[in-house]
Amino acid sequence: MAQIPLSLTINDERFERDSIDGGMWLNDFLREEVNLTGTKFCCGIAVCRVCTVAVARVPGAHLEPVRSCTTDLHEVNGKIITTVEGLAKRGQLHPLQQAFLENFSFQCGYSAPGFLMAAYCLLDRLERSPIPEVALDAAIQEAVGKHICRCTGYVRYHRAIRQVALETPGLVT
Ligand code: FES
Ligand code: FES
Repeated sequence: MAQIPLSLTINDERFERDSIDGGMWLNDFLREEVNLTGTKFCCGIAVCRVCTVAVARVPGAHLEPVRSCTTDLHEVNGKIITTVEGLAKRGQLHPLQQAFLENFSFQCGYSAPGFLMAAYCLLDRLERSPIPEVALDAAIQEAVGKHICRCTGYVRYHRAIRQVALETPGLVT
């Protein structure tokens, strides 16, 4: 792919390049160019979702979960990206991270960043459009149901996300 000028915001920090291969995978850029290795790589074919990051088109726009292993820089140029490193603020874990710990959701932890970022996008969606509690399990399933965890933390990931959605004011009616 052609060289392109790149301008990205990642975790509130601006990243500019005068010229970079627009076909480089976002996962490679994050892990190898800017050393954000919290975003994992596994299948490389958009199946396992360990590589998920949150992407907004413009500031304040809704967050979309994006699989960074099959998304190239050209597709995200100019956009706003949040990775797992951007969740904790001022030394405080994000409520999702805290809930994953409290619920023993992960074992090796390799799948955790992907689950976190997909759940983070779900919370953003619920904040904009709250849903009734009866619909919550289906919404969580839709958000993370295709994520693969080889340590089989599925039930505990689900429980943790449910807990945060219910404990955060205004997400569930
Ligand atoms: S590494 Fe498996 S979906 Fe991206
Ligand atoms: S915690 Fe090990 S793969 Fe999910």
